[in-house]
Amino acid sequence: MQVIQNCAVIGAGTMGSGIAQVAASAGLPVTMIDASADALGRGMQRIQDSLARLVKKGTLKPEDAEAITKRIKPSPELSEAGGADLVIEAIFEDEAVKRATWEKLNAACRADAIFASNTSSISISRLAAAVANPERFIGMHFFNPVPVMKLIEVIRGNRTSPEACATVVELSKRLGKNADRGQRLPRLHLHRVLMPLINEAIFAVYEGVAKPEAIDEIFKLGMAHPMGPLTLADFIGLDVCLNIMEVLQRGFRRSQVPPLSAAAPDGRLR
Ligand code: 3HC
Repeated sequence: MQVIQNCAVIGAGTMGSGIAQVAASAGLPVTMIDASADALGRGMQRIQDSLARLVKKGTLKPEDAEAITKRIKPSPELSEAGGADLVIEAIFEDEAVKRATWEKLNAACRADAIFASNTSSISISRLAAAVANPERFIGMHFFNPVPVMKLIEVIRGNRTSPEACATVVELSKRLGKNADRGQRLPRLHLHRVLMPLINEAIFAVYEGVAKPEAIDEIFKLGMAHPMGPLTLADFIGLDVCLNIMEVLQRGFRRSQVPPLSAAAPDGRLR
């Protein structure tokens, strides 16, 4: 197992800036890379706002917030990922764009670097085909808001090595997260369960069953969800949801009712 000492985060959006923040908060020097200067500026602002909340609450000292911010170097150049032990890609959920970015990173980075994608639905094995060492390629799926949510789904591709997996699981713990690596199947992610819920909620609005506010209220009152499925869809971003749904739609073919619901021996799933 390798102990990660520094990392590069590709993408300064909501997820990328959140990942940069938690990595820097764990003491790692971070290079946050985005081709857009505007996106880099917004990403740094988001990090400062998030740290300011913690300072205001009294859970972080102002000098620590400053040190965390200083550990993050914003850069527009992909080549700045060249010295990183770990590269985490958190760009738009589009397979072709991600693969093109990984090809460039593969040329720019060290041969022993670990490559992690924050993809929420695209197959890790397919993305890993863009790099020379697929055994060092893995999925690290974070949740929004990254500084708050405690889970990282660690997703192995067909060729991901046990060492790369152990390295990323160890790092996830240092970031203060639970690493769920129970799944061997590359695409068995949280979204496989969450997105059908959001999808049905959107259908319910589309078919005039209820207003968005009413659907959300049902989930908050009846199931203690912190936000209803439609607020959550907006929070994730409808464009992101659509991309994930399309990937899932292409990737899974199934009957309407899973046979297991009728066939579970004692009438329970767990
Ligand atoms: N940075 C730091 N802390 C933050 C924060 C941020 N960006 N956002 C919220 N917080 C903290 C607040 O300070 C507060 O802390 P406290 O309880 O210690 O005082 C706590 O989180 C709750 O925040 P608020 O009181 O401001 O607001 P809410 O109670 O409404 O909680 C929420 C906000 C945490 C976002 C909550 O609504 C929630 O949990 N929503 C569901 C989020 C969710 O499901 N995320 C997963 C989405 S799926 C995904 O990300 C996958 C990807 O592939 C798209």
